[in-house]
Amino acid sequence: MTHYTLPKARNFEHQISGKNTHLITLENSRGMAVALSDYGARIVSLLVPDKHGNPTDVVLGFDSIKGYLAADEQYHGVTVGRFANRIANGRFTIDGETFYIEPNNGANALHGGANGFHSRIWDRRIVYKEKADFYYVAADGEEGFPGKLSVMVKYRLTDNNELIISYRAQTDKPTVINLTNHAYFNLNGEGNGDIHNHILQIQAANYLPVDEHQIPTGVPAPVENTPFDFRTPKLIGQDIMQPDDQLIKGNGGYDHNYILDTEALAKKRPVATVRSPVTGINLEVLTTEPGLQFYTGNFLTGKDKGKRGNPYEKHGAFCLETQHFPDSPNQLDFPTTLLLPGHVFESQTIYRFSVVK
Ligand code: GAL
Repeated sequence: MTHYTLPKARNFEHQISGKNTHLITLENSRGMAVALSDYGARIVSLLVPDKHGNPTDVVLGFDSIKGYLAADEQYHGVTVGRFANRIANGRFTIDGETFYIEPNNGANALHGGANGFHSRIWDRRIVYKEKADFYYVAADGEEGFPGKLSVMVKYRLTDNNELIISYRAQTDKPTVINLTNHAYFNLNGEGNGDIHNHILQIQAANYLPVDEHQIPTGVPAPVENTPFDFRTPKLIGQDIMQPDDQLIKGNGGYDHNYILDTEALAKKRPVATVRSPVTGINLEVLTTEPGLQFYTGNFLTGKDKGKRGNPYEKHGAFCLETQHFPDSPNQLDFPTTLLLPGHVFESQTIYRFSVVK
């Protein structure tokens, strides 16, 4: 039996850009524990009881801050912002003024630019063992985005084995915003091979096909009769290796935004459910966001070795990133990502764990 533990707090005590970093731990009464770091307001570990009651770490990550600094930038567990996902050519226009984010992904600006929120040291406030709040103020013009943006990300762990992530932001100039968490899940346990044996359901009849730069073409496509159909539970591995043009554009796997069915959203039902037949761990995702980026770790290379020394290989995890649609600032048919002064951006995502025997 694998023995999983939380990383040591002292391995996360460091200084980055003159600011101290820490490890913050949340625990509930049901044996679930979450380790967070103020470096990127990120999830480091998520211990969840498996079908035998054994705590299992279901997210990829490293056991020290140095591990994170040495690894390839894969956005492990981070809060992504100011704009999650891709902006074509790093350019967009607000009220006739064009803004430019230095491309860091081919011609695209990805995940808020090279020094997005994932690389910042957030201020923190911990409320006993069940809540931690992180704060960051992005300067006007930071990474090219207009407006001073004050952001808060709250993590709360409930006795119902839910990790609730709530986001709130305000700006002093019109800006664009798209926030998500980039946890890489493996419900067999982190570093335990690929996720092909996981059974996934996504409440979405349509998704957004991409071009060769992974920018949505702007025309939603039905999932029906494609490898993208997860409306009824299906093995992630069932179609992932198919010679499908969209899977190839995703670099050999899923890396696409699903347009979540409005009924599941309106009824506050899970928009996605994933289960490991090995551990019995079941993850339900609930959100207020309209989109879900399903990404199967296609850019993981096996070079980085995680918390228990196991390599993080391609398809070694999946991400379910709740968000607005990629490239929304340039795609005016998509739900808007514009945030105006005097308005409050709010969103919430719940990762709820249980065991299915
Ligand atoms: C995902 C994105 C992928 C890849 C990954 C980070 O959110 O969809 O294409 O960029 O982040 O490596």
